[in-house]
Amino acid sequence: MTKPVVSSLFRYIETLQGDQPWGRFLDAGTGVKSLQWISTLTTDAWTAITAAPGMVRDIRTAGRIDMRRQDRILLGNWADEGLLAGEAFDTVLVDYLVGAIEGFSPYWQDRVFHRLRPHVAGRLYLIGLEPYVPFDAETEAGKVIVEIGRLRDACLLLAGDRPYREFPADWVIRHLQQAGFRLIDVRQFPIRYRERFVDGQLDMCLRRLPRFPSEPLAASMRAEVERLREHAHDVLQRENGLPHGSDYVIAAEPIN
Ligand SMILES: C[S@@+](CC[C@H](N)C(=O)[O-])C[C@H]1O[C@@H](n2cnc3c(N)ncnc32)[C@H](O)[C@@H]1O
Repeated sequence: MTKPVVSSLFRYIETLQGDQPWGRFLDAGTGVKSLQWISTLTTDAWTAITAAPGMVRDIRTAGRIDMRRQDRILLGNWADEGLLAGEAFDTVLVDYLVGAIEGFSPYWQDRVFHRLRPHVAGRLYLIGLEPYVPFDAETEAGKVIVEIGRLRDACLLLAGDRPYREFPADWVIRHLQQAGFRLIDVRQFPIRYRERFVDGQLDMCLRRLPRFPSEPLAASMRAEVERLREHAHDVLQRENGLPHGSDYVIAAEPIN
């Protein structure tokens, strides 16, 4: 099996974990990248949760995910009180889950850490993205990223989909504490966006155009998407990537 490229965020979590065993591992908002990483760890067993049937299919066809007899992928929603009732895990990963909740149980973000709390026997690691769409940027690269984010979310809304809603680290820390966790570590990781991000986001816009309420609106959005793509690629080449905003990693433990 070829080894996946592990992100610096996952590597940082490995550093925080040190010699502690991973034990029973819960991936509370699963996806291909987190499971490819978890597959490289020495766990007793892992359970991966997603609310999206499409994600289950993606995981099953992705490759580089080593699934043993004791490992599970479960389709379920944390808003359902019965999900994993009575089960606790030594390590719980909350990887970009909070931002995605808007798509599956909107306006429920304030409940998620209370809901996860009984399932965390040892350590919780959370990865999140500082919100950038609602804030103006100072740099040229930042302005491009913000413009892409706004265009993408506008396309999703016009097609009748719900965009992700990211939350800042200080919101997450406050809500973890309210849910009975104590903080172990917080670290920000600046992001440098690449061509793959630019094209991925803009292509996502294009795929939504057939569901726009009118053809003229779709046609002018298509032109705007391609204008922005050209501009973004120019800046990308000049600046060797588009530095803007940050991801964060938070480690926390339940207070007993
Ligand atoms: C952005 S993806 C996570 C990325 C993933 N960890 C990776 O490495 O690719 C968000 C995940 O959280 C799940 N999710 C969002 N809201 C949920 C909810 N209310 N209950 C269960 N899963 C949820 C989504 O279905 C998806 O699997």
